[in-house]
Amino acid sequence: MTQLSFAQKAEQHWTPERVRKVTGGKKFLIDPRQGSTLLRALGLLNADASMPADALRKYVQINHMVALIEPTVQQLSERFSPVRILDCGCGNSYLTFLLAWCFKNVWNKKALIYGIDTRADVIGKSQQRAVDLGLDDILQFEKISVQDFAQRRTDLPSPDERKASRMHMVVALHACDMATDDALALAFAEKSDAVAVAPCCQAELANKWRKLSAEHFKSAFSVLLNSPELRRDSCSTFTDAMRVLLLRGSGYEASTTEFVPSNHTPKNRLILASRRGNYLESALREYLELKSSLGAGLTLDERLNSDAIEVLKKIQA
Ligand SMILES: C[S@@+](CC[C@H](N)C(=O)[O-])C[C@H]1O[C@@H](n2cnc3c(N)ncnc32)[C@H](O)[C@@H]1O
Repeated sequence: MTQLSFAQKAEQHWTPERVRKVTGGKKFLIDPRQGSTLLRALGLLNADASMPADALRKYVQINHMVALIEPTVQQLSERFSPVRILDCGCGNSYLTFLLAWCFKNVWNKKALIYGIDTRADVIGKSQQRAVDLGLDDILQFEKISVQDFAQRRTDLPSPDERKASRMHMVVALHACDMATDDALALAFAEKSDAVAVAPCCQAELANKWRKLSAEHFKSAFSVLLNSPELRRDSCSTFTDAMRVLLLRGSGYEASTTEFVPSNHTPKNRLILASRRGNYLESALREYLELKSSLGAGLTLDERLNSDAIEVLKKIQA
């Protein structure tokens, strides 16, 4: 009896009813039938082509994220070939691989996608997977922090070289703690055209609030300062609100959206931004007002690009 290839097993396993069960009847960019080899390589399908229960969440999450950024990617593809995308804190690189796979098999557009992470093990695995899947012409992985990557770009001696290798889009899916802000700072420095970040643990503001004495700091928000539970929740919302204002003040149209239902992950907020080039003074004013009411802001406000910093200084003068 001839052995079935993995793709054939997936064809047999993924009946329309089974596909509907995992996609909820929606059209997913990566269907478990056509994308079976990729999903298997990422560990999102078992050897018999079924999907492990704990992989379903990741599968749904990354499909939703790619669907939300698809219109932006399509616009970038009309302007740039190849489109250069940087995935900050790529980890197991699910999103990075899905993007590469879509460029090659769904969108038929040219791209160079860079995945960076501080962990050597995940970078080594991702490099090997890219070769195994024949995606190494699109994908490059490197063990480096977002800060060091940004510094290396800044240190490039020739502005022309820097411009020619500019990252058109910066993405970060649940990059830990400050890595989301490092990704935003990098996008500001690169004048990247688009940004998509799903923040993870927004600790900076929470740490500053913990140190603020409610006795000495009185504001309408004082009640939030004193309760650890309210502090944690409100800090994550305020942090993202500040990020949106700083993006707007740096020339981006920025908004937030839920990228997966909250029963999948509570970390389901996606900040989407496209660069329009108008530094919005009103957004920076709003940011400063919020910072003053909250008693603390984000260090990201010191890492805007020089034009936005000038506007900020002008307001504060
Ligand atoms: C929660 S994981 C998310 C991984 C992946 N984006 C995903 O959604 O599956 C966060 C990743 O960010 C990486 N990371 C944290 N701080 C970083 C930094 N400053 N520079 C680069 N990577 C960082 C961690 O090593 C980890 O792999």
